Amino acid sequence: MPSEKSIFLPNPDMARDCYVNSLKQYKEMYKKSIDNPEEFWGEISRDFHWETPIDFNRFFRYNFDITKGPVFTKWLDGATTNISYNLLDRNVQNGNGNKIAFYWEGNHPSNQKSITYAELLGEVCRFANVLKSKNVQKGDRVAVYMPMILEAIVTMLACTRIGAIHSLVFAGFSSDSFAERITDCKARVLVTADGAWRGEKLIKLKTICNQAMDICQQKGHTVDTCIVVSHLQRSVTPASAPKYETPMRDCRDIWWHDIVPKASTKCQPEWMDAEDPLFMLYTSGSTGKPKGVLHTTGGYLLYAATTFKYVFDYKPQDVYWCTADIGWITGHTYVVYGPLANAATSVIYEGTPFYPGNDRLWEIVDKYKVNQFYTAPTAIRALMKFGDDIVKKHDLSSLRILGSVGEPINPEAWLWYYKLIGKEKCSIVDTFWQTETGGHVLTPLPGVTPMKPGAASFPFFGVQPVLLDECGKEIKGEGEGYLVFSRPWPGLMRTLFNNHDRYETTYFSKFPGYYCTGDGARRDSDGYLWVTGRVDDMLNVSGHLMSTAEVESLLTEHKSVSEAAVVSKPHPIKGECLYCFITITEDAVYNDKLLTELKQLIRERIGPFAQPDVIQNAPALPKTRSGKIMRRILRKIAQNDKDIGDISTLADGGVVDLLFKTRPANA
Ligand code: WTA
Repeated sequence: MPSEKSIFLPNPDMARDCYVNSLKQYKEMYKKSIDNPEEFWGEISRDFHWETPIDFNRFFRYNFDITKGPVFTKWLDGATTNISYNLLDRNVQNGNGNKIAFYWEGNHPSNQKSITYAELLGEVCRFANVLKSKNVQKGDRVAVYMPMILEAIVTMLACTRIGAIHSLVFAGFSSDSFAERITDCKARVLVTADGAWRGEKLIKLKTICNQAMDICQQKGHTVDTCIVVSHLQRSVTPASAPKYETPMRDCRDIWWHDIVPKASTKCQPEWMDAEDPLFMLYTSGSTGKPKGVLHTTGGYLLYAATTFKYVFDYKPQDVYWCTADIGWITGHTYVVYGPLANAATSVIYEGTPFYPGNDRLWEIVDKYKVNQFYTAPTAIRALMKFGDDIVKKHDLSSLRILGSVGEPINPEAWLWYYKLIGKEKCSIVDTFWQTETGGHVLTPLPGVTPMKPGAASFPFFGVQPVLLDECGKEIKGEGEGYLVFSRPWPGLMRTLFNNHDRYETTYFSKFPGYYCTGDGARRDSDGYLWVTGRVDDMLNVSGHLMSTAEVESLLTEHKSVSEAAVVSKPHPIKGECLYCFITITEDAVYNDKLLTELKQLIRERIGPFAQPDVIQNAPALPKTRSGKIMRRILRKIAQNDKDIGDISTLADGGVVDLLFKTRPANA
């Protein structure tokens, strides 16, 4: 097994043609990005259109020190632009009108489509006109709950065309979670589809949206327009498909095909200030309430474009594929904004990696001759177990760069990816970043950075990582600590929607002067950074972040549960899974019925991906004398690790023994 000592040198044939082709060049560019951000980003900004030119006297300002006043970041404010104009009109004018922007691959292998830059521009303008006709104006929020179809991208860009703020919610979230997000951002317009197939499973999107809109109504917020793409009738369905009558409501619901084709393909872009909001995207917060991360226009454009160009070394003839769902930040920056800003041709795929066979991803790579492939460790681990033969059936020789994102990649998965998928000639880019960071912040560069399996390696241009100890003292050289950043790069979020106080307390109060990621990291003797995982009460299940508090409060909503504590446990495929401890009420019984109800509750209220793996009966929980649950000890119990260290602060040491003895059979 490779360790910290294992270093894999990039393929020299590849390095020669990369935009950055030596470590020396990386270091020089990095230095310039730090010493002279105006010049570094100023040069990049020339590739884009600014309706009002950039004022270099106020290129970049910020305050990260909460003790000195409000925290803020501004890049290029005063300059105006429009993202959809830069992604579409500019590319059409540059001769890329007939270039394919996206190849769409449906759930069923015989469902496919493609769209050029010129066609995409026309569709975006059409839908922008429709939104305007529904009275959507600059600054208004539009809620989106979509499968991986081209209309999802059209919707996002149509919002940016008119300055509306899109708020996508991953279409695996339950109606409750969706309703909470719609009410928080007060979206009046919702865009969805009737449904979608994931393998042989029908996801009834419109039914979920109806439930969500009903919940909103009960909370006093009304969605007055819901636009629905008719996707099922054009999808090849499994033979056993049940009939689904899309529930539509008069006055509120409209079919996409009834209004969009009639709209004009011309729509003047709304010129937006570089610091005007672009989109918001909810991410889990450690208190349980989701945070509406807000990104702005100018800086995000520059950062998405630049990270995409260098980290994937995208060249004009390449075909790029990111498997992320559009409802997550990876789907925003590296399915939509980064690729389109570089006039890239991308693949998007609607279905699962396991349908119709467990080699679907490799089949798609082969079919479109994909050059850059970007996925998550959880997918790699899930696919490894089907053996090497189904991979070898496919010609993967087009691949040049393999990306990983979402969680630390374990060396075993890294090696499989490197050897079997990349045939030891591809660079692996293990990209560390967050919804909040907008784009990659720590990453190797392909063809350049000698790779260490599991290390996110070095900062991207403009990013200054620091490791701090518990007291806020900087750890220089080798060591492990809190991963923080001492200055903003253009793509950093600017605030939490309608909640700047929470923005300041969550990210800037622990260590004044620094943006705090919530992750820990270690620097090795070669200066490589290794992200070690969350240091707060957050879990990362298959790359989906969630908070322990969120799950605990749901569990205790059940009448039979009086107290709950949730910890993460390592899981061979999901990375981490939920291990729950529940104390039941006196008259309740701990049995299969209760367990099923609790799992169902979490699936319904958060989403199927949040279902706990283990729920242990805990007559009592290990607590300090002041009553604080000691999660450190619960994590040990979850892992059956008897080496629990000092428990002298525990009020009742006997609890620990009992919990070890009564771990359930499936734990
Ligand atoms: C984790 C996803 C290790 C990390 C883009 C972070 C990673 C959280 C990596 C953000 C990586 C993401 N190595 N950990 N390469 N990439 N993470 O907001 O804990 O969904 O804080 O953004 O995922 O998750 P989010």
